[in-house]
Amino acid sequence: MEKKWWHNAVVYQIYPRSFMDSNGDGIGDLAGIISKLDYLQQLGINLIWLSPVYRSPMDDNGYDISDYEDIAAEFGTMAEMEALIRQAKQRDIHILMDLVVNHTSDEHPWFISALESQDSPYRDFYIWRKPAADGGPPNNFRSYFGGSGWAYDEASGEYYLHQFSKRQPDLNWDNPRVHEEVHAMMNRWLDKGIGGFRMDVIDLIGKEVDKQIMANGKNLHMLIRQMNRATFGKGDYVTVGEAWSASPQDALLYSANDREELSMVFQFDHIKQFWDEQAGKWRSKPFVLANFKAVIEKWQTALADRGWNSLFWSNHDLPRAVSKFGDEGEFREASAKMLGTALHCLKGTPYIYQGEEIGMTNVRYTTIEEYRDIESLNLYRERLAGGVSHDEMMTGIHANGRDNARTPMQWDDSPNAGFTTGIPWIAANPNYREINVAAALAEPDSILWHYQKLVALRKQYPILVYGNFRPILKEHPQVFAWLRTLGEERLLVVNNFSREHLTLDIPEEMQAWHGECLVSNYAPRDALAVSLELQPYESFALLIGR
Ligand code: GLC
Ligand code: CA
Repeated sequence: MEKKWWHNAVVYQIYPRSFMDSNGDGIGDLAGIISKLDYLQQLGINLIWLSPVYRSPMDDNGYDISDYEDIAAEFGTMAEMEALIRQAKQRDIHILMDLVVNHTSDEHPWFISALESQDSPYRDFYIWRKPAADGGPPNNFRSYFGGSGWAYDEASGEYYLHQFSKRQPDLNWDNPRVHEEVHAMMNRWLDKGIGGFRMDVIDLIGKEVDKQIMANGKNLHMLIRQMNRATFGKGDYVTVGEAWSASPQDALLYSANDREELSMVFQFDHIKQFWDEQAGKWRSKPFVLANFKAVIEKWQTALADRGWNSLFWSNHDLPRAVSKFGDEGEFREASAKMLGTALHCLKGTPYIYQGEEIGMTNVRYTTIEEYRDIESLNLYRERLAGGVSHDEMMTGIHANGRDNARTPMQWDDSPNAGFTTGIPWIAANPNYREINVAAALAEPDSILWHYQKLVALRKQYPILVYGNFRPILKEHPQVFAWLRTLGEERLLVVNNFSREHLTLDIPEEMQAWHGECLVSNYAPRDALAVSLELQPYESFALLIGR
C-alpha cells in the first residue's frame, strides 16, 4: 500500500458554533478556535475538520451556505479564517473545510436568481419539475428533515427538489456549469492553504431524480473523479466524503488509490445498526456488541489491502460516543478511555469529535423548547402529528438527537462551562462542573491525557497504522479483541465492552506472550496467561516482538 502522510494523522472535528465564544454573544467563533490552538497542539492532532463557517442564514447551522467564499458574521471574518489557517499550520495542523455542494441555501445568489426568472442562467443550477397531475409534488420523495422533498414556487408554477430543509435547495449536478463554479471555488480555497475537504453528503450528488435514486446515482463516481482532477488531485490533500449509503465495495471505489477519487469516506454501518427499521434514529435499539463487532470487522477486512478506512464514534450529527457505546455513569472514565483505545488501534484514520477527549456525554433537556436542531424539531412536530407520543419522541431525541453533540464544549467549571461569558445559543450540559478540560488537564490519569497518549502512539508505532487486522475471540459477547501484525511484530488489543468483571480465557498459542503494554486504562498488562481477570471496561494494547 502506498504510504501517505495522513495515514498516521489524527483528525479533530470542530463544530464552530459550540466550540469557543470569544466575544460573549453566545456563539462560538473563529477567534475562539484560534485561542484554543495550543490546546489542540498539545493533544497532538494533525488536522481539523471545521464544520461550516461560511455565510449562511443558519437554517441548518451553516450546512445551508449562501456564500462559499465569505465567512458568517457571527463566526468572524475572512481575515480571521486566513489567520486560523496560518496559525494552525505553524503548529503543524491543517484545516479541512466542510464542502457542502449537494445543496446551497435558498439565500445563495444562484437560487435567488433562479427564483427570479425561468430564463435566469442559474435556473438550471437547481432541480425543477412540473407538478403532478393533481397539482401536488412531482413524486412522493421525502425530505430527511420531514415533509415532502419538493417545494412549490408560486411564480413559475414548478417545484424544486430539496433533500434536506426547503431552505436547502439541491444543486443540479447534471449541469456542467455547476461543476465549473464549484471547482473554481474549491481551487480558491486550496490556494488559501487548507489541507483538504470533508465532503457533505457527497454520495447524493449523482442523483437520478426521476427514478428517485438519490444516493449512489450513476454519475457519482464520474463526478468525484472529475472534481479530483480539476481540484485537489493536483496536490497532496486529504479528502473524506460523507457517504451514508456506502457499502465496503463502494468505499473501495471512493478510496482505492488507483481510482483517483477520495482519501477515504465516512460510512455509518456501526451507527445505523442501532436504529429501528421503521422509526429510524427516533427509536433507538440497544447496543449489542456482537453486531458492532461484526460491522467493524467487515470494514476492517474489506479495506485491508486497498482503500482506507475512516474511524469515528461520533460527530456533530450523532450522540456522544461514551453515551452510545460506553457507560455515561459509574464507568464513564474507564469506558471513554476504552473507546479511545479501540478507535486508535484499528486500521484507518481516527477522527475525534470535540469533547470526546474529555468524555462529554449526551444531554437530556426536559422540554422540546430547549432543543435547537432543525431535524429534531421538525421530526418532533411531524411525528407527534402522526400520533407518536411526546414521551416516545423525547426518548428518541435523548438517545440519538443531534443536539447531544452540539452542547457547548466544556472548558472549565465557570458558568456556561467557560464557553461564553454571555448566554449560550444552546444550554450547556449541567455536568460541566465535573466534566471539563481544566479538570482533565489537572488530572494526570484523565481521559484527555489518555487520548493524548493514543495520538502520540500512532506516530511512534507503524504497526498501529499499517498492521494487518485480524479479529480474535470472535464469538465473545462482551469482549472485542483483535490482533495487528506487521513484520515480526504483533499488537494485541483487548476491550471489555461491559460493566462486568470477566475471566477471559486466552487462546493457547497466546498464553505465553509478553511484551510492552502501549496503553491501558487500569494497571498495565505486559504478559498474558491462561486467563485474565478483566475489570469493567478494561482495555489494553500489548506489543509483542519488538
Ligand atoms: C450532513 C451534515 C448534517 C447536515 C446535512 C445536510 O449530513 O453532517 O449536519 O444537516 O448533511 O447538509
Ligand atoms: Ca461569538
